[in-house]
Amino acid sequence: MPNEILLNAFDMNCMAHQSFGLWRHPRDRSVNYKTTEYWTDLAQTLERGLFDGLFLADVLGTYDVYGGSPGAAIRTATQIPVNDPTLVIPPMAMVTENLCFGVTGTLSYESPVPFARRMSTLDHLTGGRVGWNVVTGYLQSAAKGTGQVDQSAHDTRYDIAEEYMEIMYKLWEASWSENAVRLDRKAGVFADPDRIEQIKHDGLYLSIDSPHLCEPSPQRTPILYQAGSSPKGRSFAAKHAECVFVVGPSTAVLTSVVADLRQRATDGGRDPADLKIFAMMTVIVAPTDEEAQAKLADYQRYVSHESALAVLSGWTGIDFSHFSLDDKLTNSKVEGIQGVMDAFTADPGRVWTIREIAEKIAIGGPSPVVVGSPTTVVNEMERWVRETDVDGFNLARVVAPETFVDVVDLVVPEMQSRGIYKREYRPGTYREKLYGRGPHLTTPHPGSAYHR
Ligand SMILES: Cc1cc2nc3c(=O)[nH]c(=O)nc-3n(C[C@H](O)[C@H](O)[C@H](O)COP(=O)(O)O)c2cc1C
Repeated sequence: MPNEILLNAFDMNCMAHQSFGLWRHPRDRSVNYKTTEYWTDLAQTLERGLFDGLFLADVLGTYDVYGGSPGAAIRTATQIPVNDPTLVIPPMAMVTENLCFGVTGTLSYESPVPFARRMSTLDHLTGGRVGWNVVTGYLQSAAKGTGQVDQSAHDTRYDIAEEYMEIMYKLWEASWSENAVRLDRKAGVFADPDRIEQIKHDGLYLSIDSPHLCEPSPQRTPILYQAGSSPKGRSFAAKHAECVFVVGPSTAVLTSVVADLRQRATDGGRDPADLKIFAMMTVIVAPTDEEAQAKLADYQRYVSHESALAVLSGWTGIDFSHFSLDDKLTNSKVEGIQGVMDAFTADPGRVWTIREIAEKIAIGGPSPVVVGSPTTVVNEMERWVRETDVDGFNLARVVAPETFVDVVDLVVPEMQSRGIYKREYRPGTYREKLYGRGPHLTTPHPGSAYHR
């Protein structure tokens, strides 16, 4: 019996997330991102397809690297406007029982105590179905928008993240001991102050002096996601992440990334199988291969190269308005998302021009795009799992919500018939569903050491 493949939907509280210009497609509904129904409908669709989670990306700035201004991004709805991703989770939790939610929170712009409270509140309201995608940010515009003079350097951001995680574990795991809440109506004692620790942290980058403001939530520490792909990012992921989000346009690029992540986890004393690794993928599926190819051709009529290059410039920090479309991209260290840069430069057998990258990114961002019948698509998913050793996929949308509806109606039944996809959810919290163990972090995860 092969292992079951995990599935997340990858989305963002905006219109153009990973497909650029497609909001103009007549069937696209992403303009309704600002309504509650848009999200509750999506959550119900995903739960009908037994998706493990909805993974919500986020940024706190504009894509203003391209041409030195946010003009192109604003014109083309390129991740702007972008609403708060956490606020759409409670309504989705109300209309579902098992779907879990991974939400991006940028630690560089979030003060630890209020952020820990927001995540604990979500964990309470969802009954333990929430995860945090730990990101450090990559947009200079976001740093400026949150009152910083400059974004910290790439590797320094991970040093700050390390300290931030220590504070989070202290707040979530150490501050309230297991029996701090007494709920003793007769004695008039809700909680025992002696069992609640004031967290005092005076570090190189951060300092706090506060207890956690929430009583323990079902998971305490939410499921931890991470998407770092530089050497420093991978070490951070291998240490802290339970789920890692990776991207590469080919199995050749991803195989070594996944092996390296699992090796780093092993070196750190963790079971490498405890890293649940999700590859980004975009699926365009229809009953037959021909119909799926026709669907792709239809989608391609709506792509925007300007939007794609605006987002690529923001991801990498390189202003692609200065390049000719026929220029070739060569590998370099970037201050933005190294993983996106590597996706197009790490395979020596494939040299990309800027035009090719723009056309690629316009549908499905940096992810591979798999087009075909359910048989073709699932063959390809199985090949990716076999060759790269990932555990599952974060599936991006092209047309909202059509891409996800197609996957639920056509891909999921094909996976189930091959015995590689669940037929029902496991009970419990996000952590229990993923691991079949208890709701809390366990040794040797570093966060578990803080638990009192
Ligand atoms: C697939 C993928 C998805 C990401 N999603 C987000 C996101 O939603 N918001 C964000 O601020 N950063 C996001 N990032 C950025 C990373 O979390 C990380 O901060 C960035 O990649 C820089 O680290 P690196 O050079 O180690 O990859 C993402 C990165 C990857 C590869």
